[in-house]
Amino acid sequence: MWEQENRCSDGSRSNDLLGDLERYVNPGRARVYRLMGMTNIECRGEGSRVFDEEGNEFIDLCAGYAVLNMGHRHPTVVGAVSEQLQHMGLATKTMLSRPEVELARELAELTPGDLQRSFLCASGAEAVEVALKVARMFTEREGVVAAEGGFHGKTLGALSATSKGMYRDAFGPLLPGFTHVPYNDLDALEEAVDENTAAVIVEAIQGESGVVIPDADYLPGVRRICDDSGALLVLDEVQTGLGRTGENFACEHSGVVPDIMTLAKSLGGGVIPLGAAIVRPDIFQIFDENPWIHSSTTGGNPVAASAGLAALRVLQEEDLARQARDKGGWALQYLQDMAEEFPEVLSHVDGRGLLIGLHFENPSGGIMVLTELFQRGVLVVPSLMNWTVMRIAPPLNIPDEDLRAGLELVRDVVADVAPQLRDM
Ligand SMILES: Cc1ncc(COP(=O)(O)O)c(C=O)c1O
Repeated sequence: MWEQENRCSDGSRSNDLLGDLERYVNPGRARVYRLMGMTNIECRGEGSRVFDEEGNEFIDLCAGYAVLNMGHRHPTVVGAVSEQLQHMGLATKTMLSRPEVELARELAELTPGDLQRSFLCASGAEAVEVALKVARMFTEREGVVAAEGGFHGKTLGALSATSKGMYRDAFGPLLPGFTHVPYNDLDALEEAVDENTAAVIVEAIQGESGVVIPDADYLPGVRRICDDSGALLVLDEVQTGLGRTGENFACEHSGVVPDIMTLAKSLGGGVIPLGAAIVRPDIFQIFDENPWIHSSTTGGNPVAASAGLAALRVLQEEDLARQARDKGGWALQYLQDMAEEFPEVLSHVDGRGLLIGLHFENPSGGIMVLTELFQRGVLVVPSLMNWTVMRIAPPLNIPDEDLRAGLELVRDVVADVAPQLRDM
């Protein structure tokens, strides 16, 4: 009966979706899904649960790479978007649009310091593009210093800041003027930043590198180096923002306020793609002369902006940052105890809030655990910049019992694969 209720296919649709993915979308992705035995077709999400077309149920411990801080189909977000759709979909761009302006005002109120003007777009990479363009235009300088292991997206500008060769090599030459220095190394940063540096762009905690948390003095040091040199500080909070690490924004752990903050992922409330670059007003003055020097036809559209407004309401009403802090506290302890129990499998577990990285000794360990967990009904993800780290980043409002059940299954699987990994 339960299974029946959760089926969402009437059987009339293509029964060879994997073949169609291979033929019409991306054969490489189809191959990977097949290899990993992950060919299920998802069709319904609810809170921290996901269902496939066969009615199988999964506990979501990855939240679509931190896109679902509010969980799947949060009723406040779905309600706001449905309500907006009763009136208007995309904007004409000939008049004022209330949701866009109201979302920008809310972002100005919620973000720290004097971050005030928002450029709205649809993705993290687009938000990073805005930050880089604004920094170059405002400072009239060319250089950008980014961090090794940093991930900022895959459009050409954002990719120039992203450090991993595997994503960059085929597309060169990328933008000139970009250098990368080791993360969490203030001496290296100081040496790289000079009078031609327009911006330093870093993540407050590196997400795709496998949850790399810098020393407490790192971000304040980065702020000082930027202030001394006149470079702008761009903090990329696309992954760490909106409660994920136990504060609304990860920079709040150190009290550092950037000149530009980038947001995306959960800003759309897990329902609509939405990104934003939030900029100090004096820097944004560069738009005064030509307000369309950078623009996006659909950026800040009423549907996405109403999702964003609802997402910010949920963030505050449910105090998602506190939930991440509380649940992240005991989850991290549980997983660190597990790492001590299986030192041959895991070198360590690190995290802040509900952004947790399991660092495997063997590069294959993470993928083995991930695929086995999938078979047992738990979703986790690897890290794009470091495949030896598996990430746990559930919806922040996941019920305690779901999180606990998911983590117990993680432990069961680690225990089960330990003998295999020991012999590899
Ligand atoms: C820190 C950070 N910046 C930027 C991006 C790119 O975002 P998007 O995939 O929405 O372009 C990501 C994506 O994972 C990210 O983690």
